[in-house]
Amino acid sequence: MKNTLLLDQLIKIQQQQMISFHMPGHKNGRIFERLPYKNFKNILTYIDTTEISGTDNLHHPKGAIKKAQERASRLMGSEETFFLVNGSTSGIYSMIMAVTNPGDKVIIGRNCHKAVINGLILGDCIPCYLAPTVDPVQGIALEITPASVERMLLEQPDAKAVVITYPTYHGVASDLKKIAEIVHKYDKILLVDEAHGAHLGLSEALPKTALECGADIVVQSTHKTLPAFTQSSMLHIQGSRVDRDKLKFMLRLHQSSSPSYLLMASLDVAMTIYESHGKELMGELLNHVKEFKSSMKEYEGVVLFDEDDFSEATASLYTLDPTKLWISLQRKGISGVQLEEELRSTFGIQMELSNLYGVLGIGTIGNEKKDFIQLAKAIEGINSLSKTYTSYTTIIGHNVKSPLMMEIPQWALTPKEALYREKRTVRLQEAIGLISGTTITPYPPGIPILMPGEVINKGLIQYIKAITSMGMEVIGLKDDTQLLIDVIK
Ligand SMILES: Cc1ncc(COP(=O)(O)O)c(C=O)c1O
Repeated sequence: MKNTLLLDQLIKIQQQQMISFHMPGHKNGRIFERLPYKNFKNILTYIDTTEISGTDNLHHPKGAIKKAQERASRLMGSEETFFLVNGSTSGIYSMIMAVTNPGDKVIIGRNCHKAVINGLILGDCIPCYLAPTVDPVQGIALEITPASVERMLLEQPDAKAVVITYPTYHGVASDLKKIAEIVHKYDKILLVDEAHGAHLGLSEALPKTALECGADIVVQSTHKTLPAFTQSSMLHIQGSRVDRDKLKFMLRLHQSSSPSYLLMASLDVAMTIYESHGKELMGELLNHVKEFKSSMKEYEGVVLFDEDDFSEATASLYTLDPTKLWISLQRKGISGVQLEEELRSTFGIQMELSNLYGVLGIGTIGNEKKDFIQLAKAIEGINSLSKTYTSYTTIIGHNVKSPLMMEIPQWALTPKEALYREKRTVRLQEAIGLISGTTITPYPPGIPILMPGEVINKGLIQYIKAITSMGMEVIGLKDDTQLLIDVIK
């Protein structure tokens, strides 16, 4: 095939045969090779169909889709499950808009994904932010405490719902059972963004699932941690607090009218693997993780984010998903961004993301023991290298702090009001005290650090300058070389 552009590039990357600690959970299709689903890869073009006789209809399921959703519901422990073909993003929009009316307040963790903020913009809701606790050394958001949820519910008695990210990208699982009890005590609805937790039901050693903890609606990115294709996700519901007809309407509103059968079939395959091999493969994965982590303990320069490492200041009731691998060599003066690049270019290992402090890898049942052995060798190699890296504090200065460690910016307008106001473009440096007209989101992880309608402060400007100078991608600037930003006129 000649003159394909994106396809050529994808094939080129694929030919590098990288070891993946990245999404999607099937790890470049390798799990389909190992298990008896090899044929699945070969028939993809034939099953790319639409609503014809016998294929059923996602928006009005009565046949095969209905049965597949019912099986997923049984496996995941919901009362009803809906397949999503537009990612968890569409599920998050739908769940927020199913339980609110325009103008309603919604309590959300400040460390939420941009999909939650965009859901509030679409639904014209007002966010009330809860600050997560933070690990100051690793710059990682930790838990949303039950006490902070209760305080906010008392402060905002008219809020309709609470949205919690559980677990976080880094695997931190707040005490959701307690949070659910509190939210329900105040007669509110608990919505959980479990995008990173579709696999939690596979082992007792993992945090409990959000449904087990009592959430009313849960959205999972099946594609992130189970073997489904990118964008394939699910929404689960239980209990009687949510109007299911309104939810179904919202799902139709936010999803394509031509849902991809490839994605839906991949959800079905993921559920078959989950049911028949999931627990066994998860047991193996947890052993590989354990061996990897204990081998890393030998190296002084290497810091992991592990339950054993919880400092007294951070020790709390949250738990950790061990399949998320946080590795930091900052003691050696190596930033996370440098470490990610070194792992990719020298060792052929693709991690999920990095920040100033470390890198994050996602281990799934699609990974094999040899992946962890290669990762351990690479970290050992980089840690013992005499190569010197310019310390990130030299590059960005000592005063720069992660926004998680700053006060939540003040807001002057709701996100939706800000979106529809007239804007002007200014240099970031000159934006102190002005009202943001945009969302600024380092990507990944896709967690906004500045929302439309918020007042821009000096600390945020320093941080944005620092991370862009280190080559991290920041979405939302008008121009990321000249550092321009849209503000309200
Ligand atoms: C916490 C969280 N929620 C939601 C999403 C959106 O999920 P999706 O990519 O399936 O739309 C992401 C994506 O990275 C995420 O990290």
